Amino acid sequence: MTTTASQVLDRVLVLEMVRVTEAAAVAASTLTGRGDEKAADAAAVEAMRAALNELAMDGTVVIGEGERDEAPMLFIGEKVGSAQGSGPRIDIALDPLEGTTICAKAGPNSLAVLAIAEQGGLLNAPDVYMDKIAVGPGYPDGVIDLDRTPTQNIEAVAAAKGRPAGDIVVCVLDRPRHEALIAELRGLGCGVMLIGDGDVAGVIATTNPDTTIDVYMGSGGAPEGVLAAAALRCVGGQFKGRLLFRNDDERGRAAKWGVTDLDKQYDLTELARGDCIFAATGVTDGSLLKGVKRKDGRMTTESVVMRASSGTVRWVKGEHRIA
Ligand code: FBP
Repeated sequence: MTTTASQVLDRVLVLEMVRVTEAAAVAASTLTGRGDEKAADAAAVEAMRAALNELAMDGTVVIGEGERDEAPMLFIGEKVGSAQGSGPRIDIALDPLEGTTICAKAGPNSLAVLAIAEQGGLLNAPDVYMDKIAVGPGYPDGVIDLDRTPTQNIEAVAAAKGRPAGDIVVCVLDRPRHEALIAELRGLGCGVMLIGDGDVAGVIATTNPDTTIDVYMGSGGAPEGVLAAAALRCVGGQFKGRLLFRNDDERGRAAKWGVTDLDKQYDLTELARGDCIFAATGVTDGSLLKGVKRKDGRMTTESVVMRASSGTVRWVKGEHRIA
């Protein structure tokens, strides 16, 4: 009897994925606070690739470290997994070190991140910016929409919560390009939580009441948008994304990845379709996960792995011997 991709997602890969993100996080953590973003990223990439190649699948990286000519490893289109040609065909979106600068500066919320889906399940997003808006679960469908102004979105979220707009807390990447957005939000009296980097964690934070963040808004990497959407598919919530192009070169790249409608507003299920699994391990401490810790010859890791079809969320604490 042949094994379907769905069965493999179910039985084999869910927990195996944690090994992959753990390996990347542990490797990056050896360079936490060392001020060398490239070295930390390279360590994470190498470790994630080695771990992915141990999984019994016919995997293809659809969101990775860049195009083949700009990334030596985990480039878009790279085949990974130990069952090439025979195993289930799986598409993979990954960011071995999400928040390279955070890790280099030992700041909060850097993660090793991975999402997988059956072939064709993840938007092959080019490496451009994406305008994003997200809320956690529990809101009426359509409460957020990128065709509305920030004020209209905040008012809709506030009305759904039965609170004044000024009670809404919004997470935004601290960038000059967001000056007008931040001013508009502050004009409404919203709490604006500015983050230096790491919008995958920023989006996921909307699903965790402990963070007090109600809404994520602003532009960031499109690949990170797909990863965050995969996570929200598993835990609930709403996400809208629209690719942003700064020049013809970027528009050309979109066409290369099959994106034809450049103005399209993508919904969660268009970014991550069907069944998918999301896994992350903390590199540094953050709102989602604690970072890698070393003590007395042992090392601890904290990870989460979740699956869209079942809605199962597993928190995994690992204790490892330091090699
Ligand atoms: P890296 O891990 O590639 O450094 O990305 C960090 C990040 O903050 C992402 O979370 C975010 O989507 C993107 O950079 C924003 O891009 P920019 O720094 O150009 O505003």
